[in-house]
Amino acid sequence: MTIDTYFAAGNEVQMFELAFGRHAPVMLTGPTGCGKTRFVEHMGLLLGRPVVTISCHDDLTSSDLVGRFMVAGGDVEWLDGPLTRAVKAGAICYLDEVVEARHDSLAILHSLTDHRRTLYLDRTQEVVQAPPTFMLVCSYNPGYRSSLKELKPSFRQRFITLAMTYLPPVHEAELLASETGVDPAAARRLVACATSIRQADSAFHFEPPSTRVLVTAAAMIAAGATEIAAAEACVLAPLSSDGAITDGLREIAAATLLAPETSTTS
Ligand SMILES: Nc1ncnc2c1ncn2[C@@H]1O[C@H](COP(=O)(O)OP(=O)(O)O)[C@@H](O)[C@H]1O
Ligand SMILES: [Mg+2]
Repeated sequence: MTIDTYFAAGNEVQMFELAFGRHAPVMLTGPTGCGKTRFVEHMGLLLGRPVVTISCHDDLTSSDLVGRFMVAGGDVEWLDGPLTRAVKAGAICYLDEVVEARHDSLAILHSLTDHRRTLYLDRTQEVVQAPPTFMLVCSYNPGYRSSLKELKPSFRQRFITLAMTYLPPVHEAELLASETGVDPAAARRLVACATSIRQADSAFHFEPPSTRVLVTAAAMIAAGATEIAAAEACVLAPLSSDGAITDGLREIAAATLLAPETSTTS
């Protein structure tokens, strides 16, 4: 297994390359665990640029992004934050789950996302011009039902949006087999199980099972767990907050997976 295995779902690789060449920022949307982070890492390797990842959360301040003065041995020194370091290095700066960050923290990005491509560090009076290889990439999950947060439309419109989703079933099953070494037939059954749940999603009212949980379940099966046990622990139980598996979910699992007695891990 190499970390750079990325299965493209559509034209996202080409669109990302074009955006990189145009010095345009990119917004990745799509459900949790559909491959957004993996895609950015892949593009960093493909384009030969380091990726600086910043996980956004609601305490994130603009100082956390650009840097701050720190006391070091009696002296006060400016320390660049990850955004500033990424701009200076001409890296790909990846703001993961950008919707979690407060709007006022994100205002610092405006001058980087338009023709100026410049970061203004008010505290040090420094003006940092982004080199051509600097790229800003953000991700967010618009369908996340329990989230009350939304990005401002004016912010969203600064980006080229690449809408990502789960791979087509055949490719998702290939991914599971290549990531975990699980038997290809078991991989296909796991994907069939997930696909049924995703299709019934509107009836269930929860975030659908991600490719990430399928990778975990496949790894458990490859290690010797039965298909039903792996699916229950990795795919079904995490869907509800109390880990309870509904009868509907059990039926889907029973209809798509091998029963424990006959399950093999060949
Ligand atoms: N298109 C893909 N190509 C390769 N691996 C993928 C892909 N989509 C999902 N995965 C697998 O699922 C896991 C979670 O993907 P990740 O990129 O972290 O999702 P996200 O950032 O969208 O939440 C990855 O570690 C990888 O094993
Ligand atoms: Mg991610």
